[in-house]
Amino acid sequence: GKGAAMVTAVAYRLAKQHTERQHVLDTLRLSSAQLLEVKRRMNTEMNRGLDRNTHTNATVKMLPTFVRATPNGTERGDFLALDLGGTNFRVLLVRVRSGKRRSVEMHNKIYAIPQDIMQGTGDELFDHIVHCIADFLEYMGMKGASLPLGFTFSFPCQQNKLDQGILLKWTKGFKATGCEGQDVVNLLKDAIHRHEEFDLDVVAVVNDTVGTMMTCGYEDSHCEVGLIVGTGTNACYMEEMENVELVEGDDGRMCVNMEWGAFGDHGELDDFCTPFDHAVDERSANPGRQRFEKMISGMYLGEIVRNVLLDFTTRGLLFRGRLSERLKTRGIFETKFLSQIESDRLALRQVRSILQHLGLTSSTCDDSILVKEVCAVVSRRAAQLCGAGLAAVVDKIRLNRRLEQLRVTVGVDGTLYKLHPHFSTIMRETLRELAPQCEVTLVQSEDGSGKGAALITAVACRLRDGAK
Ligand code: GLC
Repeated sequence: GKGAAMVTAVAYRLAKQHTERQHVLDTLRLSSAQLLEVKRRMNTEMNRGLDRNTHTNATVKMLPTFVRATPNGTERGDFLALDLGGTNFRVLLVRVRSGKRRSVEMHNKIYAIPQDIMQGTGDELFDHIVHCIADFLEYMGMKGASLPLGFTFSFPCQQNKLDQGILLKWTKGFKATGCEGQDVVNLLKDAIHRHEEFDLDVVAVVNDTVGTMMTCGYEDSHCEVGLIVGTGTNACYMEEMENVELVEGDDGRMCVNMEWGAFGDHGELDDFCTPFDHAVDERSANPGRQRFEKMISGMYLGEIVRNVLLDFTTRGLLFRGRLSERLKTRGIFETKFLSQIESDRLALRQVRSILQHLGLTSSTCDDSILVKEVCAVVSRRAAQLCGAGLAAVVDKIRLNRRLEQLRVTVGVDGTLYKLHPHFSTIMRETLRELAPQCEVTLVQSEDGSGKGAALITAVACRLRDGAK
């Protein structure tokens, strides 16, 4: 009768909505063939970045880091380290011991970098940094000490030597004026001179990926790759000097900071991008740039999710079609919420309470299931893309050495990688599939950007003092 017809109509509508949603989510799902293609294109860009003739136009810059030697355990001394470019700004004192008591001991203090300083002038930014260093030295009772310093500066820098870093472009929401094209060591030194209180001996400028690789390499000599999946994403690895065409010399190896976040900036990822990716990119601080990073890292994943939810809601497929002000607000989905929502131990009721906490109150049980599914699809794609990039790296190392099979360790750091319940598992699966001839061990590194910068500084001091 009439009731049955109504039930059928409702069932039909629900089925249709389901199909419509899956249709959208399918655009965010990548096939094995597509991932293999990402790996192939990454490899092409890597070679273009290394090649002297194509470097200028390559999206993946493959920047020489002038880090050649890994620590051998004989380094020792006290070092200062700065860490700028992750979630927080930190100043660290690192004590490295050699020999039988070989160990690394660290003290650090975290300082906020207010939004207006991040986006103000370069002088303001570096004055603030020097201010924090002064505060730290005072706090440690070390006023007036002049220790060798390693500066972890996690942005793309051109280096012609270890203690130089010419900032190419800001990434990750930093905007301070007057810094691009400048050597950050000079910017730091100028600020120190303005401050007139202490002097510092800047020995090394270090990317966080490199610090991570070095930290992990201190324990495991197979560690020749560093990976960050945090606010941003990037990787570095040991490349044969003969392939590092930007630097003279053919002997041995040098660590290359890939800056793979910029992969896709010439359209290499266009056929995999969705309207959600375009929306996130357009409203970012650096439209058109860091396209690979924007599909992977913590600063952007939540925004992709939010854009999908917005689309669903507008089409009446979620939250009963009611668009809340909250959902229209940029940045409400931080990495930690994404990680919480996807946790297997979480009951749907808890997903709902997270959504409520985010101010998305009109949610039903079905809404919670759907939100969780959107998060899963978006983070799976991120982990797979990251795995495809990493597959290109390890296979390149393998082919460089003409090996049938390669065993390699990757040091990994970053909040998204560490907090997310499935990211590393999915990335491993992808790696196994795309680089079957590489046996990759992923090792979480403890505070690579602090410890690593100190170790690199220590090695440089050892070599420098040894040469005297
Ligand atoms: C951004 C930076 C890069 C850094 C990465 C991870 O991609 O450009 O230098 O390594 O974020 O922090």
